[in-house]
Amino acid sequence: MSKFNNQYYLFANWKMYLDLDESMAMSSALKKEVKSFQDSVKMVLFPSALAMDPVIKDVGGALDVGAQNVYWVEKGGYTGEVSATMVKAVGADYCLIGHSERRHLFGETEHQTRQKIEAALAAGLTPVLCVGEKAEEKKDGKTLIIVEEQIRAALDGLLWPKDRELIVAYEPVWAIGTGLACDPIEAEQVHGYIHSLLQKLISGTIPVLLYGGSVRPNNVVDYLKQTHINGVLVGGASAKIDSWMEIVKVCTV
Ligand code: PGA
Repeated sequence: MSKFNNQYYLFANWKMYLDLDESMAMSSALKKEVKSFQDSVKMVLFPSALAMDPVIKDVGGALDVGAQNVYWVEKGGYTGEVSATMVKAVGADYCLIGHSERRHLFGETEHQTRQKIEAALAAGLTPVLCVGEKAEEKKDGKTLIIVEEQIRAALDGLLWPKDRELIVAYEPVWAIGTGLACDPIEAEQVHGYIHSLLQKLISGTIPVLLYGGSVRPNNVVDYLKQTHINGVLVGGASAKIDSWMEIVKVCTV
């Protein structure tokens, strides 16, 4: 099994699925269940920017919270953006960076992803770098090349702070929100590759690796039993209390 520090990492990316009231309902429901899973599950919630502060206040430290995105400049005329320092200031500890929806729907470049990683580290956040290939890239046999390019662009040459975990999520673009989850053995091969690449790039830090893309209660175990997969980053199934608690329960037995 592939727990990290005796815990499975279950990260809930609520995307833009939940409005403020729905986010609060989810966080309150999860807060009530914390005792049932906290020994074996490390849960981080990623609400919308609007819901982040109230969710942090609601969970009161019982669960970790992160941002779905950050901007690298601290303050200024950047309409619509929220900086890494602002996110840290409200008490969040994590942020997703380079999610495929940021890269492919909003045109985020490798350079921007790198700036966000650097800003997150400087602000005291733990970035969760998301990488993954598109369907045509997989078809052309380029999965490892794309994933390596994305990781090198984001992390090569960085001095990783000793107090920060190094977390990378492999999320094939074609698997996200489609129901076409990656074959767990194939996912493990990519994670094994990422693991050794990260050990070359950032020495002295054991990486935490997550799989993401159509994770559901009925397939989560198939990923978590792989050697190099320590947890999952879940979108759709994390935004409904029933499916999310089913995933959590599978990981607590
Ligand atoms: P999904 O999304 O679980 O809905 O496929 C995963 C993600 O985008 O992080």
